[in-house]
Amino acid sequence: MSLKVAVIYGSVRSSRQGIKAAKFIRNKCDERGWETTLLDPLELGIPLIDKMYKEYDEENTPEYLIEPAKVLQDSDGFIVVSGEYNHAAPPALLNLMNYFQKEYHWKPSAIVSYSAGPFGGVRAAMHLRSYLNELGTPSIPSILPISKVYSSIDENGKAVDESYNKRSIKFLDEFDWYLKAFKEARNNGTPY
Ligand SMILES: Cc1cc2nc3c(=O)[nH]c(=O)nc-3n(C[C@H](O)[C@H](O)[C@H](O)COP(=O)(O)O)c2cc1C
Repeated sequence: MSLKVAVIYGSVRSSRQGIKAAKFIRNKCDERGWETTLLDPLELGIPLIDKMYKEYDEENTPEYLIEPAKVLQDSDGFIVVSGEYNHAAPPALLNLMNYFQKEYHWKPSAIVSYSAGPFGGVRAAMHLRSYLNELGTPSIPSILPISKVYSSIDENGKAVDESYNKRSIKFLDEFDWYLKAFKEARNNGTPY
């Protein structure tokens, strides 16, 4: 079964570190033969939300929403890569995700959290869980927290702390199961 996954990252800081975590998990997905796309609000040039994607007529949809909308629509699930800003998810991540709604429905998500400190952003991950449920993309039971993100992963997304290679296997095996189960269920129809 071919699988498509959107990796959604959400820091727009000039010295951002989480991009390393996003590249790491994307590499791991690619190694499995999944078709992955990174959605990065900095690259996309996403402004603070005015209207949701669904509120635009086709001919008036801003350029910056066209690609992410297509990627999310085509995806079988989402890996949300979240830092921790004051124990919550970064605003640029939520801002990007808030533009969309039905694009997430009936598909699973998985949370990769990270932080500069030892806790790997787990407090933001717990906050994200209820948010993702509200968006219609329930998150899998496991999370992948990455501590000391500035040094544990390098610029190319390679694990300097090699324990993350092993941890990512269990995490992505679990996500793989949910991706396939939800895809099969979607193929049999959805309630609405
Ligand atoms: C506004 C702000 C709030 C932060 N709050 C936390 C926090 O609550 N817990 C934590 O472990 N680190 C916190 N940090 C440190 C981040 O974990 C670290 O800067 C990380 O690299 C941020 O992700 P980014 O580089 O991808 O933007 C905070 C950083 C910023 C900029």
